[in-house]
Amino acid sequence: MSPSKSIRPTCVEIDIRQLRRNFQIILADKPANLRFCCVVKDNAYGHGMVEVARCAWELGARYLAVATVDEGLHLRQSNIDAPILIFGERTDEELPVCVAHDLTCFVNDAATICLIQRLAADFGQTVSVHVEVDTGLSRFGVRWTKAIDIIATIAETDGLLLEGVMSHFAMSDELDKTFANEQLRRFREVLAQMAQRGIVVALRHMCNSGGFLDLPQAHFDMVRMGILPLGVYPSQVCRRIKGLLPVMSVKSQVAAIQDIEKGDTVGYGMRYRAAELRRIAVLPLGYGDGFPRVRNQGAVLIHGKRAPIVGGNAMDAMMVDITDIPETRVWDDVVVMGKQGREEIDVHELAGLKGSVSYDILAGWRARVPRVFLDGN
Ligand SMILES: Cc1ncc(COP(=O)(O)O)c(C=O)c1O
Repeated sequence: MSPSKSIRPTCVEIDIRQLRRNFQIILADKPANLRFCCVVKDNAYGHGMVEVARCAWELGARYLAVATVDEGLHLRQSNIDAPILIFGERTDEELPVCVAHDLTCFVNDAATICLIQRLAADFGQTVSVHVEVDTGLSRFGVRWTKAIDIIATIAETDGLLLEGVMSHFAMSDELDKTFANEQLRRFREVLAQMAQRGIVVALRHMCNSGGFLDLPQAHFDMVRMGILPLGVYPSQVCRRIKGLLPVMSVKSQVAAIQDIEKGDTVGYGMRYRAAELRRIAVLPLGYGDGFPRVRNQGAVLIHGKRAPIVGGNAMDAMMVDITDIPETRVWDDVVVMGKQGREEIDVHELAGLKGSVSYDILAGWRARVPRVFLDGN
């Protein structure tokens, strides 16, 4: 008989109560008339897209954002009727699906304007669209020097409603705001051109979490935030808001204990050799679960103490040295990411092991690691 809930002793724990507190803290921190778009792409950075979206919408987010049509459809199938923005560009095949399910797209070129105009006629409705102005990220969108023509065409096209004009920062969360301010200047240039032509738009938006925290002059009508409500700061140097705490922890248990002797090696590649008697705990998770591939680096928490990782971790297992934590027994609790007692292994520490960013670690916990939602009920 297979259980309806996973009974795997390794899980990603999502504290929905803390998520709610984070939303409340952010909503209280922001100016009252500033709208908040909650970015829930990539399974809300691994936290559970539907759960985070529901919480955001209930607590006052005015928009949700995803990166793929499938993600948008999944929200609609989960009975979420909030406005949903889909970042990036859409294929001709995707556009009708977006219109049919009220998923707001970006329109950054003349060909897409024509396609949407036809769809608006077919569906007998006005289709809201946003324009992305590329002010220096060199990713999606129309270059700021050419944006006004597209914006003006949309404003004049029957069947299309220009609901939003946005841009995205290349670096908003570091101390040096020189380029962020230059991007802002370019975006303002486009807004001034719009004003000259009498083009009005309801949602001008530019800020991600870093911009929200550090660039209030760029808030405009709406901010798009993904990582901050999850209790993780986009960088180590951006403004802090009291009370925000991480929502995600990764937990496991000790699956086996090995006493090894002088000269014994641990793990694939024999990267660790014991200089003396050591006690090793084997944990049932590895790089196949999203833990960075490491060799003799990093640690986990057992009984509130750091147990260093020894050897090279495998796809499904990793070994830690528990010689200095003699009270450890098989099936004792292990914290892989998060707090235990006074100790903490935070997402930035794991990102450092991978030479990557916190976003990559959060979103990188694989689907085979069950999500456990703590909602206090
Ligand atoms: C266009 C856009 N806006 C906003 C965000 C949210 O960024 P953050 O998670 O730093 O708040 C992202 C995320 O990558 C994005 O691609």
